[in-house]
Amino acid sequence: MTSDRPVRLGVAGLGRAFMLMLPSFENDPRVVLAACAAPRESSRDAFVQRFGGVAYDSVEALCADPTLDAIYIATPHQMHRSHAECAVSSGKHVLLDKPLCVTLEDGEAIAEAAERAGKIVIVGPSHSFDAPVLKARALIDSGSIGHVRMINALNYTDFLYRPRRPEELVTAEGGGVIFSQGVHQIDIVRLLGGGMVSTVRASTGQWDDKRPTECAYSAHLTFAEGAFASLTYSGFAHFNSDEFCDWIGELGHDTDPKAYGKARKALQSVQTPQDEIRLKTERTFGASPDPAFPDHNEHFGTILVSCDGADLRLTPDGVWIYGHTQRDFVPTPLGTIPRKGVMDALAAVVNEGQAPVQDARWGLASLEVCHGIIQSSANGKEISLEHQVPVRSLQERKQRI
Ligand SMILES: NC(=O)c1ccc[n+]([C@@H]2O[C@H](COP(=O)([O-])OP(=O)(O)OC[C@H]3O[C@@H](n4cnc5c(N)ncnc54)[C@H](O)[C@@H]3O)[C@@H](O)[C@H]2O)c1
Repeated sequence: MTSDRPVRLGVAGLGRAFMLMLPSFENDPRVVLAACAAPRESSRDAFVQRFGGVAYDSVEALCADPTLDAIYIATPHQMHRSHAECAVSSGKHVLLDKPLCVTLEDGEAIAEAAERAGKIVIVGPSHSFDAPVLKARALIDSGSIGHVRMINALNYTDFLYRPRRPEELVTAEGGGVIFSQGVHQIDIVRLLGGGMVSTVRASTGQWDDKRPTECAYSAHLTFAEGAFASLTYSGFAHFNSDEFCDWIGELGHDTDPKAYGKARKALQSVQTPQDEIRLKTERTFGASPDPAFPDHNEHFGTILVSCDGADLRLTPDGVWIYGHTQRDFVPTPLGTIPRKGVMDALAAVVNEGQAPVQDARWGLASLEVCHGIIQSSANGKEISLEHQVPVRSLQERKQRI
């Protein structure tokens, strides 16, 4: 099943996540934004004015549109299960923005619904699709640098102080840094470490009574094949670890040094949760300018991979290979399509029936690590995992449907 016509995509949710995908959708001729569903009339109108197509007032009506190939679900985490089930049972493939959902029960239900319907759920965008991460994985697969032994991942941001909906500050509803940010780091580390995490031991921080959810964590993971990893994330940070990435920001733009403290300063004007929702809405589609085209690949902080024959250091522009006697840099040019790894996955699913590594079962395994971090911190114990899946080869992922 191959096709040269563009993928007809329907978008569920025109918020911040959709804004961040715009430079990819608009620069990739393989995709047409053909329809949307959004509760706010103003964003539905803005969509139709800009892209044409059809605007629905419910995700159910969007999924029922027979002209669509796939649905991009960019609604809040807690809606992912019902929206994904609706899409796959209506015969659509799904691009589901991370995380898969909040509870493991909902994650299992999404995976089962997709399998039952013979449709594929891509869990992305996630930073495991970033070109330098995929390049590092390809270097490991080539066998030229031996086995992965240890991974170190570190990221310091002001995530907790960007405008949030109330539920984004409630852990049980998927709030805090672990479900929204940790899952990126976990996806990257699992992709590089082979996927099969055996155990998690972690501590989490909740340091601000006004934002009573996890703002930081440090986790130690062991892998079935013997590698281990250390993951540290702070969304409470005053320090910005872009400094370790040549002052390039997460989305691939140069970090503006004059923006120091911007998120915390903006939040000082907020008196009520409604004020904060308003502030967040200002960053959504129809209410703010598009993100600029990036200058570099996206990244998720410092990532170091120690292998038998080399250490790899991922940068927004490529991968440094520090071998025994020489070091080399393998560039990953940005090209004309930001987040190209995600767009490639979408085109491969719809046009070739080829699943990505990051499908629903993969997303469930990363979600299990998120819960493992929270549980380990609460109990002071190491947690064993049971929903892990390996990085499946291209051959295994071809012709899944
Ligand atoms: N991968 C990334 O870079 C990235 C970045 C931001 C957010 N996200 C993910 O995207 C999801 C949304 O987060 P966000 O920050 O964009 O939130 P947001 O609040 O900015 O956007 C959510 C949108 O969903 C809409 N919505 C709510 N209920 C709906 C419904 N029933 N039908 C259709 N639309 C509905 C809202 O009107 C809003 O526009 C989350 O799961 C988040 O983790 C991913």
